[in-house]
Amino acid sequence: MSFLEILNISKSYRKSNNIIQVLNSFTLTIEKGESVVVVGPSGSGKSTLMHIIGGLDKPDTGNIIFKGENIFNQSYPIDEYRNKKVGFVFQFHYLLNDFTALENVAMPAMIAGTPINKAIKHAEFLLDKVGLSHRYHHHPNELSGGEQQRVAVARALMNEPELLLADEPTGNLDGANTLEIMKIFDKLKSEGVTIIMVTHDEKLTQNFDRKVVLEKL
Ligand SMILES: Nc1ncnc2c1ncn2[C@@H]1O[C@H](COP(=O)(O)OP(=O)(O)OP(=O)(O)O)[C@@H](O)[C@H]1O
Ligand SMILES: [Mg+2]
Repeated sequence: MSFLEILNISKSYRKSNNIIQVLNSFTLTIEKGESVVVVGPSGSGKSTLMHIIGGLDKPDTGNIIFKGENIFNQSYPIDEYRNKKVGFVFQFHYLLNDFTALENVAMPAMIAGTPINKAIKHAEFLLDKVGLSHRYHHHPNELSGGEQQRVAVARALMNEPELLLADEPTGNLDGANTLEIMKIFDKLKSEGVTIIMVTHDEKLTQNFDRKVVLEKL
């Protein structure tokens, strides 16, 4: 049994009278601990694919099989999959401005029922890990774009996911911060986390076991 099977995924969007076909029977099998980088031109469906893998969007046809189970089956606990199995770093970070960096990072664990003290402790650990120990109490709008993205990475790691999906996590970052994020990902990989990352930065693709190129249909 493979860790993750992405089977024959097709997805189109309907917009007034047009149907935009974005993915056409996309298939990929990923083993535990592998790292995969996804590249392709703007509009080729990279974010769409990541959302489907993360169970945030449904394909028209095709299945996502996670450890032998189809996540789109009625009986599959998809909320738990989204919350606990998968960590998601979005192309746009969606941090909550009313909360501090620390609270944003701790949020997924609190939602999952972890006691506050424990969640905050782990959130501190993760913010330290992404180099933000001096920014615990800043709100997202008081952070630079790169700092916001690092908070988003810390948040994605909060529930210790087995699968990390990162959609251009370094898009806003300078070279030094990009390197920091890549180091964190390398460490996660060595701990057995499976990583799928989208990037436009060709230089970063060499850090991954496999590279997938999406074409514009
Ligand atoms: N909700 C939607 N309704 C209609 N069309 C959509 C919708 N979401 C995405 N699209 C279209 O689907 C295509 C793929 O979008 P997607 O966001 O997956 O691309 P991408 O590869 O992530 O691009 P980028 O590199 O710019 O982030 C685009 O042409 C986009 O305009
Ligand atoms: Mg995208």
